[in-house]
Amino acid sequence: MSDSKIIHPAWLRIAHWINAIAVVILVTSGWRIYNAAPFFDFRIPNEITLGGWLAGGVQWHFAAMWVLAINGAIYLAMNFGTGRVWRKFWPLTPKLFLQDFLAAAKGKLAHADLSHYNAVQKAAYLFVWADVLVLVWSGLVLWKNVQFPILRELIGGYEFARRVHFVAMASLVGFVAVHIVMVALVPRTFLAMVRGR
Ligand code: HEM
Repeated sequence: MSDSKIIHPAWLRIAHWINAIAVVILVTSGWRIYNAAPFFDFRIPNEITLGGWLAGGVQWHFAAMWVLAINGAIYLAMNFGTGRVWRKFWPLTPKLFLQDFLAAAKGKLAHADLSHYNAVQKAAYLFVWADVLVLVWSGLVLWKNVQFPILRELIGGYEFARRVHFVAMASLVGFVAVHIVMVALVPRTFLAMVRGR
């Protein structure tokens, strides 16, 4: 297999799938933790949560948190270290985004070259990078709010960090839902994320 045919390098595919598993564990165990002290007027049905009870949810959450943080750090370091971030996610301007968004809405967006992301994909992926960073930041405040006073004050205090963490979780779930629909619409992208080609 020549390098030119590789759409996604192995490190990226491994990082992506580890990340996907970690996110499922984090979200479902996070829902269990939320249910122990909900701050909105609803609970998540226990059947779709992970951990069984508060302490079980916390254990799953902490285990997967390390996986996401370390794996995410490697993913970002590789993207910046290899210069891939500029090749794959640049250029991205509001004009390009609007063009591709309108083309997608009309069903006229080309998917012939899987090694190239359109502007909507670039924006969606960069959005999820930022969203996960907000999750890690607010999560650090919830985990060790005494040890990270600057992070805590910057985010608006412990109680506000809980809301930020929840909204960022909901945004991530929204991204994943749209992401999976998009992948289902262009299933070749799934094969490329599994096999690399
Ligand atoms: C089972 C669920 C998932 C499936 C089937 C899936 C599938 C895929 C596929 C096929 C691609 C390549 C898209 C393309 O070539 O246009 C991709 C890229 C990506 N996915 Fe997912 N994904 C899943 C879960 C997630 C989750 C949970 C996250 C984030 C938290 C995520 C974040 C990303 C990102 C950031 C990229 C771009 C990676 C890069 O090029 O650096 N995915 N995904």
